Amino acid sequence: MSKNPVLSAVDIWKSYGNGATFLSIIRGACIEISEGEVVSIVGPSGSGKSTFLHVCGVLDPPDRGTVSVRSMDVWSVSESRRAKIRNGELGFIFQFHHLLDEFTMLENVAMPSMLAGNSRKEALDSAAMLLKEVGLSGRGQHFPSESSGGERQRAAVARALILSPSVVLADEPTGNLDSANSRNVEDLMFKLAERRNQAFIIATHSIELAGRAHRCFTLDDGILRS
Ligand SMILES: Nc1ncnc2c1ncn2[C@@H]1O[C@H](COP(=O)(O)OP(=O)(O)OP(=O)(O)O)[C@@H](O)[C@H]1O
Ligand SMILES: [Mg+2]
Repeated sequence: MSKNPVLSAVDIWKSYGNGATFLSIIRGACIEISEGEVVSIVGPSGSGKSTFLHVCGVLDPPDRGTVSVRSMDVWSVSESRRAKIRNGELGFIFQFHHLLDEFTMLENVAMPSMLAGNSRKEALDSAAMLLKEVGLSGRGQHFPSESSGGERQRAAVARALILSPSVVLADEPTGNLDSANSRNVEDLMFKLAERRNQAFIIATHSIELAGRAHRCFTLDDGILRS
């Protein structure tokens, strides 16, 4: 496994509200992740796992601290540069797949590529390859409503990967699946991390999934510990 760091977050602080509603959620968290590495974050509900993933994924700014993607401090560059990094280097998988019902599975997977300006043909070709990689070849013309929860989540994994992100942020990716489908999606993430040298940061309540990661962090009372 290569050891090039792809994402580092240093001394991250994040709070919500102010005055009587002030909540200090993340207090001085640091994480560094290398290519092909799978890192898990566990912690009680409300401990800030999603908040931290959003900060690491450049969806939300930290109050304090720096987030760097491939050594670029993402909050010190222009919004358009930041959007480019977010779209080009980072992928997201959520607990609920968020596939669009009016599009086929193939079109759903291809969507980020089309939105990034690639031709429809190019996007659909890469989507078809990815669907094959996640074990869904032959399901491309089906709609999400005609697919099982596990199949939809595997399509969501494929969609997160279509622009070949360096880092995938997965927020409870198996939280909505039964144990067989969870195992399937887990295996898929580990396989892709190894094959494509992509890094995964996975927030989860599953001790089994957390334990399979190369490194496991715990978030509790605002503090991230390895
Ligand atoms: N936009 C917001 N405004 C105010 N408070 C928020 C906001 N988003 C989250 N919070 C609060 O921040 C805390 C951390 O929330 P977060 O969703 O990050 O926790 P979590 O660890 O992901 O929980 P879960 O395991 O239930 O998904 C919670 O107390 C939540 O109520
Ligand atoms: Mg959460």
